[in-house]
Amino acid sequence: MLMTLPWLAGGCDVFLADNPRQCEKNPGACGADERCSRVTNACVKVPAVLRQPSRSSTIALSEDDSRVVMVNPEDGSISVFRSPEDTLVARVPVGGEPSSVVLHPDRRTGFVANRADAQVVRVRGLDGAAPQVDARVDVGAEPTGLALSPSGALLFVAEWAEDRITVIDTEFMRPVKTLPLRAPRALAVTNSGDLRDDDEVLVAPEFYGVPVGEEASNRGRTGKVRLYSLATLAEIGAVDLSPLSIIESGIGAEAAANQLAAVAVQGRRFHVTALAASPEGPLSATQMVAPALYIGEIDGAKEVQDGAGTVGLVDKINNAGIAAGKRLFLADPSDVVFVPGKADVAYIVARGADAVQRLEIDQVRDEIRIGSTVNKQIDLRPDAGPACPGPTGMAVVSPERAYLNCWLDRSLGVVDLRLQRLSAVVRSAELPQDPAQRGRQAFYSARGALSTEARSSCASCHPDGLSDGITWSFPTGPRQTPALDGTFSHGQVRKQRALGWTATADEVHDFESVLRAASGGAGLIMKDRCGGAQRVDLAQSGLEAPGARESQGAACTSWNDIEAYLQGLRPPRGRRGLDPALVAAGRAVFEGKGQCQVCHGGAGFTVSRLFYTPGAASTALLRDTVDFRRPAAWPESWNLHNGKQMALQPKEADGGQAIGPLQLACAIRNVGTFGELFIERTVTGGRAQGRGGYNVPALYGLSLGAPYLHHRQARTLEDLFSREEFLAHGRAGAANFLGDASAAADRRALIAFLLSIDAGTSEIGVPAGFDEGCKTSN
Ligand code: HEC
Ligand code: HEC
Repeated sequence: MLMTLPWLAGGCDVFLADNPRQCEKNPGACGADERCSRVTNACVKVPAVLRQPSRSSTIALSEDDSRVVMVNPEDGSISVFRSPEDTLVARVPVGGEPSSVVLHPDRRTGFVANRADAQVVRVRGLDGAAPQVDARVDVGAEPTGLALSPSGALLFVAEWAEDRITVIDTEFMRPVKTLPLRAPRALAVTNSGDLRDDDEVLVAPEFYGVPVGEEASNRGRTGKVRLYSLATLAEIGAVDLSPLSIIESGIGAEAAANQLAAVAVQGRRFHVTALAASPEGPLSATQMVAPALYIGEIDGAKEVQDGAGTVGLVDKINNAGIAAGKRLFLADPSDVVFVPGKADVAYIVARGADAVQRLEIDQVRDEIRIGSTVNKQIDLRPDAGPACPGPTGMAVVSPERAYLNCWLDRSLGVVDLRLQRLSAVVRSAELPQDPAQRGRQAFYSARGALSTEARSSCASCHPDGLSDGITWSFPTGPRQTPALDGTFSHGQVRKQRALGWTATADEVHDFESVLRAASGGAGLIMKDRCGGAQRVDLAQSGLEAPGARESQGAACTSWNDIEAYLQGLRPPRGRRGLDPALVAAGRAVFEGKGQCQVCHGGAGFTVSRLFYTPGAASTALLRDTVDFRRPAAWPESWNLHNGKQMALQPKEADGGQAIGPLQLACAIRNVGTFGELFIERTVTGGRAQGRGGYNVPALYGLSLGAPYLHHRQARTLEDLFSREEFLAHGRAGAANFLGDASAAADRRALIAFLLSIDAGTSEIGVPAGFDEGCKTSN
């Protein structure tokens, strides 16, 4: 049936009624966008096709190079600039959080994915002075990437939180098919250069590496890139991307493919950026994440591993002869793009590092070289001159000129590729100077006090403020990166929860310790003055660090800013494609047969909450004076604390040994999820904290939360609510839940409800007696 779809035909003659010239023997009779038809001996219009393979980016160039369009996510608009003058022509409101833009071969039409609205819009008139949205189509949750077929007839939408790609007919703006896969983030389509679409291939990396083997292992993920035929819209192959070896990674450890954020096609090869992860530890700036470019062959569907194949970028930079301290280790690769007409020259954009890396991919000499004859790297935040912080996308006009979306500064960056430097920036959208914006700038940056040599940012583990899906070996045990959208609730009541999987922190500021260890930056908590060289000694962290907020000093607000950013962090939209009746049934199971709300009730779908003002005084009070007693409503097994409000995990919980660090007793619930001996170890090999229970997580964004639990042993929600080893958790509120004849139906409905939860879902109250135990006086 699909073989006969009209938009796949391509190349048919379109008669120009007003132009019946006899062109066969009359060269030059036809216009630039026409050709002579052998059938009719008349000039016919050549359907326009894209010159390059299409790919997802936050910035795009029109086919005639006269317009540059970039998205302004916080502003709900796109900006249209004239090139090469670099003047703003128009700012077009498009909808909530535009994330990706592609332009049609007709030179006037564009498509924008709006993440917050879960919509794709068509913008017309991009060649004129007043472009406008002329059509909208609803798509799945969190559309993050777009790509077009060469003729522009088909638009592909990567729906990150819906686990699928939607194919849209661009003429009618109607979905024609959906393709299931996990968390696609960016897309690319091949372009053979002819007028047909049906010989092309859609290339779709899954953002998260697929879990293999053990968690908290440097080989624990395999990258996955899926290939689809445009003729049949069916999958024709999948490419596995293997872990980088110790040598390839450049960080002295193997590193597994993860965070496949951008993709470009050149010829019959695809090029995917990754931030490979080395979670075994020790947690150190130089041995944590490894930016890489994975290269694969479309025909034969396999990774290319020779000298011109997959490359770890840290290793290349290590060997490039750049002075220590001047190197930029490309934290958080956000885009990859080839220079038109130069098949072997690519640029990688690194959002955290504020850098662009030039690569020569030399298949003849079987090697990849970095840098150019002018310099080794393009620093977008040099000591002097214009700056482009947080670049998210790049569009290359020619070997001489390119543009960047400087997201954190809301401006357009102009790059002079002859001189290999940023030559100018032009404001694209208003740049507010509120705390949340400053916090965003700090959270996504790997420069200055935030990291040495631009190795990593907060977003290296918390992409979009969420989770990288990795279980890190931390000082307290195996710890999956929590999505930070649940740190503060987002419903009617705003609250902060106790922090960390075992409730070992009470201030966002406490994660200064992670910043210093993982990013290697000087940190943000300084003596006397902000940005000073003398940092406050945080020998201890978390609850034991007396008042991290107080320690940062009144004048320094960087951590307050990060906190403000996290307070406003939007949880991903719930799945859009769910059956509403099933979701309603699942909600009834959640609060009825499941009694989940005894722990997952209240603001943010967690009972966990901060119940005092953190600081040295309250730490002393809660640690030394105020008693914790298990409320009568709680089963005994939930919590074995019987001392103070801030205490070590009690010795009764695990082999007669109290285990630190201090935790907030009233936030802990034991649901039998402590794993086996070999899993539950700290980074130094000691016994992990957690046998006594965990801090109840928020339930936002679960479609992006797999695998689940603190150690990510539950690969799917299906596993979490059916595998025997996890059922103690599922039955913690109701002993016989999922034990009767309707278990399968209840599970299906429950999972549908869980996948629907977002900031707009009405919360369910905690029953009386279950939210007791947190006290500030005896
Ligand atoms: C190595 C990866 C990594 C990096 C880099 C990282 N984090 Fe985290 N983050 C984690 C893990 C793992 C946890 C869970 C820790 C625990 O449970 O004890 C966590 C927990 C948190 C929490 C507690 C959330 C909650 O609701 O419990 C906050 C807040 C946080 N991180 C903020 C940050 C900030 C801000 C930065 C940058 C300065 C940062 N993180 C950098 C991995 C990371
Ligand atoms: C006694 C308190 C309690 C009850 C009752 C409870 N949970 Fe939980 N839940 C927790 C704790 C604690 C964790 C974290 C455990 C861990 O990571 O080891 C958790 C984890 C989860 C997770 C995984 C979250 C993630 O990001 O990995 C989901 C989903 C979840 N619970 C849903 C439910 C549902 C649905 C129910 C009802 C059937 C339920 N819970 C009942 C305490 C509870």
